[in-house]
Amino acid sequence: MGGQPYYGPDFGLLQREDPELAQVLLDELERERDGLQLIASENFTSPAVLAALGSTLTNKYAEGYPGRRYYGGCEVVDRAERLAIDRARRLFGADHANVQPHSGASANLAAYAALLQPGDTMLAMALPHGGHLTHGSRVNFSGRWFNVVSYGVRRDTELIDYDEVQDLAVRHQPKLIVCGATAYPRLIDFSAFRGIADEVGSWLLADVAHPIGLMAGGAIPSAVPYADVVTFTTHKALRGPRGGGILCTAELAARIDRAVFPFIQGGPLMHVIAAKAVAFGEAMRPEFAGYARRVVANARALCDALAAEGMRPVSGGTDTHLALIDLRGLGVSGAEAERRCAAAGITLNRNAIPYDPEPPAVTSGIRVGTPCVSTQGMGPQELKEVGTLVAQAVLRPGSAADVRERVSALLAIHQPYLSEY
Ligand SMILES: Cc1ncc(COP(=O)(O)O)c(C=O)c1O
Repeated sequence: MGGQPYYGPDFGLLQREDPELAQVLLDELERERDGLQLIASENFTSPAVLAALGSTLTNKYAEGYPGRRYYGGCEVVDRAERLAIDRARRLFGADHANVQPHSGASANLAAYAALLQPGDTMLAMALPHGGHLTHGSRVNFSGRWFNVVSYGVRRDTELIDYDEVQDLAVRHQPKLIVCGATAYPRLIDFSAFRGIADEVGSWLLADVAHPIGLMAGGAIPSAVPYADVVTFTTHKALRGPRGGGILCTAELAARIDRAVFPFIQGGPLMHVIAAKAVAFGEAMRPEFAGYARRVVANARALCDALAAEGMRPVSGGTDTHLALIDLRGLGVSGAEAERRCAAAGITLNRNAIPYDPEPPAVTSGIRVGTPCVSTQGMGPQELKEVGTLVAQAVLRPGSAADVRERVSALLAIHQPYLSEY
């Protein structure tokens, strides 16, 4: 450490000063360790990322950008943000990176602010077909402030209907086309979206909040060569701190930066930006490519195992880190399946499936993902067993105790924050 003393989190101190809150931290760690975490949008960030997050960089106000701040004393945090920007650009091969968005939703708000005026038309994937709230849902700013036209998946294949996207684009002449989803298990054809955007002269935004980590590791094709703007989160498959980011072409760099600050945000979270730099650095290592490939192989193994138990994967399978399972015909709703799994020590979420007859609070599906279990070191063999356990928990709720025991046995070998990454 070059003789420089470091001052960082002291859990003993927290326990003495605020035992009530300290207990929350202990209970959450126990919860993360004691169950199988199959939520597709979560991960176990590394101890190095946690160290940066818990640093004194949280104290610093740094409105503006490196070298152009509205506060004094930013010369040290500037180095953190420059590192994060430089690493993000190299990792994704992007002209420009903005690492300040506080979250994926903020990144989308900034991207829309850079490209659209209120009332403009945008074309994006419908929420019930796998799109995100920020892609034009009526309960979100995006649906309130823009004229949103939605595309979906075909009823027969459950895949994006590129003919429909093209028809809608030609008919409505959107200023922006958004591709990317929150519950779509297949690869998205970014080149097809680029062709449609070029045909109608619209911007193309790829919201790759979910699969950005797989792109970083080279496990699936990147959206960066095709989209004008790419928005992402850092806390899902990428395994960084909770936060967002934006990549864009040189042409849009100044517009994106102005949209993030001063248009939608004030002071950036410098401790989070430092932690994003750490995560980008980790994702540049060869081990991360291995991790990303394992996430996909594990999702396939899990999906196949579930299918073998009679639980139908939407679209017939997965190419990514997640699978969507159709429970219609099994006599159990998504909400009930989520509850049954929780009782057996398995955390996952209910999820609408395309053309779902049930309301969003109930749903006919569940979504499962493998970023967490892959970080824990599990491989396809373990995921086969996980598939059997999920099926047993959902279909035979009486066997919850038995499933929980087998979950514990798996976790005894693959515990987060104990075993090697
Ligand atoms: C496609 C997509 N975009 C945006 C977001 C929003 O990210 P955040 O929850 O960080 O705001 C999500 C989160 O799940 C997402 O799946």
